[in-house]
Amino acid sequence: MVMKKLKKGEEMVSLVVWLILLSHLLRRIYANMEGDALHSLRTNLEDPNNVLQSWDPTLVNPCTWFHVTCNNDNSVIRVDLGNAALSGQLVPQLGLLKNLQYLELYSNNITGPIPSDLGNLTNLVSLDLYLNTFNGPIPATLGKLSKLRFL
Ligand SMILES: *[C@@H]1O[C@H](CO)[C@@H](O)[C@H](O)[C@H]1NC(C)=O
Ligand SMILES: *[C@@H]1O[C@H](CO)[C@@H](O)[C@H](O)[C@H]1NC(C)=O
Repeated sequence: MVMKKLKKGEEMVSLVVWLILLSHLLRRIYANMEGDALHSLRTNLEDPNNVLQSWDPTLVNPCTWFHVTCNNDNSVIRVDLGNAALSGQLVPQLGLLKNLQYLELYSNNITGPIPSDLGNLTNLVSLDLYLNTFNGPIPATLGKLSKLRFL
């Protein structure tokens, strides 16, 4: 009887250990996904002043990169790249940053369309794109963003 109880307890412990490991693993994959999304933005932009130099995709997550802010779960909530002399185009992968609240890209020379995938960013509070040279319409998907205050 005692033996059996012990065994049950051990099983519980190993189950908990597995769950913890699994959640760490999932968190890692998820954080890397956001790093990958930002890194694809980096590769798509010309960056004459090297403001994106710290955006190293081999790090576990993008939370230590300059101009990137994360929440306590290591998920990106801010990207601050205003007035950074960037040119090139945005990437649809930005739509993967699901906790993003602030996307500041004002006063650069970014061209091309505004990806409709930005409409997937349901937590977006501020999207500052002014003083760039985007082509095409503002995607209708952005109209879905109820928290958005600025454009
Ligand atoms: C954009 O590019 C033009 C010409 O290349 C340059 O004169 C201007 O200063 C740039 N603007 C910004 C905000 O970098
Ligand atoms: C955004 O949502 C649309 C529609 O659900 C989906 O097709 C698209 O793949 C999403 N984009 C990203 C980057 O997740």
